[in-house]
Amino acid sequence: MPSEPLCWLNILVLHGPNLNLLGRREPGIYGSVTLTEINRLLEAEGQGLKAKILAVQSNHEGVLVDAIHETLGQQQGLLINAGAYTHTSVALRDAIAAVKIPTVEVHLSNIYQREVFRHHSYIAPVAIGQISGFGAESYRLGLQALVNHLRELQRD
Ligand code: DQA
Repeated sequence: MPSEPLCWLNILVLHGPNLNLLGRREPGIYGSVTLTEINRLLEAEGQGLKAKILAVQSNHEGVLVDAIHETLGQQQGLLINAGAYTHTSVALRDAIAAVKIPTVEVHLSNIYQREVFRHHSYIAPVAIGQISGFGAESYRLGLQALVNHLRELQRD
């Protein structure tokens, strides 16, 4: 029997504080790719995966919380680099748990090779998984993993 054509998925990509400075922010750690380039890369990858990307960056915790709430009825998956809020924000963790959105956490740098305060993530326990240390490629891998997970859910 022929399989059903895949429907388009809507994915929210959330970038946390200081990620607007990518490209000139500590390039030895975060690389030279800008946030605009990462968003373009994700849009292109999304085309092939039938995933429409909405990318939002904010330096403000409450704005990120609001964006997570607004996924209700709008997006099926969340790809998040919460930046420093990864290590501090119970509010972001609670927002993801509240709306129960399938979430993949990504980091450009390998947070486990860095300062001890970066080793703990409040997001990880409410995420499907985490990809850390591959630069901009972490986002592409994260999007692939998230879409694969959502397609599996559709099959069930
Ligand atoms: C980061 C790692 C965080 O520890 C840091 O605060 C960031 C970026 C990363 O992508 O490697 O802002 O999330």
